[in-house]
Amino acid sequence: MVSLARNILQIGFGNFGPTHLAAWRALGLADGLHVVDPGDGARQRCRDLGLPADRVGGEVAAFLEQADLVVVLAPTDRHFEVCEPLLKAGKHLFIEKPMTATLAEAEGLAALCGDQTVQVGFYFRAHPLAQRVKREVDSGALGELRYVSARFHGFKRARGDSGVVGNDAVHFIDQANWMMSGLPVAVDAVTRDHFGRGYDDLALIRLFYPSGAIANIEVGCIQPGRWNDNIVPGSTQTKEFVVAGSEGAAEIDYQTSELRLHRVRHELIDGLWRPNNRGVELPHEAIVEPFEVVAGEFAAFLDAVDGKAPVLAGVEECGVGMARVMDAIHRSAKQEKRIAL
Ligand SMILES: NC(=O)c1ccc[n+]([C@@H]2O[C@H](COP(=O)([O-])OP(=O)(O)OC[C@H]3O[C@@H](n4cnc5c(N)ncnc54)[C@H](O)[C@@H]3O)[C@@H](O)[C@H]2O)c1
Repeated sequence: MVSLARNILQIGFGNFGPTHLAAWRALGLADGLHVVDPGDGARQRCRDLGLPADRVGGEVAAFLEQADLVVVLAPTDRHFEVCEPLLKAGKHLFIEKPMTATLAEAEGLAALCGDQTVQVGFYFRAHPLAQRVKREVDSGALGELRYVSARFHGFKRARGDSGVVGNDAVHFIDQANWMMSGLPVAVDAVTRDHFGRGYDDLALIRLFYPSGAIANIEVGCIQPGRWNDNIVPGSTQTKEFVVAGSEGAAEIDYQTSELRLHRVRHELIDGLWRPNNRGVELPHEAIVEPFEVVAGEFAAFLDAVDGKAPVLAGVEECGVGMARVMDAIHRSAKQEKRIAL
């Protein structure tokens, strides 16, 4: 429970809105929450979930001045226009991922950042399974990182504000960057737009890191997912993230909350490279609901606002850096060649 009361403004209350509301409730801070959404249905849903009518509105201006911090949960292609005046007003900002739809917009917002805290909503940085794997990587237990293999796909609605690169791949690109402690130096990608809506619905992405390590990421909404999605009803998802190093590997299945830590090293024995397999651990990490992970993101955001911790996912790496990677992915797919960053 976070004790210091805050005046919070949340802009946008669509599909992910109730999860954010539940996260503020889990932190004991929902009494300071105000919500703005231009949609009548979204505002009604918010009131139905118990937010008092005088704290739900259609205009940002009604609540902005008294807001200590602002959370932007509008569609991705609206992030720039929503965030620009907020940054100019000096507000602390939590912007859902991806920070913006384009690189130019990301650079535009970065140029407006002053002393305030700005965090991008990279959910998995607050997920206990990812945090456990990050600790394994940082302690050297997996050795020298060689490969990330990640899959984020399943039958689900094709969003109106972005493709699967901007919506899904960003999560695992960020997680790969986080594990590798930096951005890739080159990318190559293949994308498809089967629905002809101007956004990708399938993408195969390879990221190349300075160490020589590579990441391979498959995303799409046209192929099956193995499990029911825990945020969007009626959708299916596979969300698997594997990181392999010279001393072992970690496998996360986010849909089943399962983590496997392989302690294995290849050794040259009698002229053959054989795995010296010292076993698999399945460490127990509490199964967490999405709202609890978002509460973890918010707690980190508040710590950064209060100067108690660095920003969990900052503008430079996770806003502009990610926008550069996404821009290179789209150019690579269009030009059918590897793009250096
Ligand atoms: N971190 C995660 O895991 C995660 C999960 C889901 C969504 N997201 C991100 O959150 C954002 C919203 O996603 P969603 O699924 O809730 O979208 P959504 O399309 O379901 O809802 C968006 C809401 O924003 C409102 N809106 C539109 N224009 C607005 C404006 N100018 N100002 C204020 N509100 C406006 C709409 O009326 C709608 O209610 C997206 O950027 C998405 O990528 C992140």
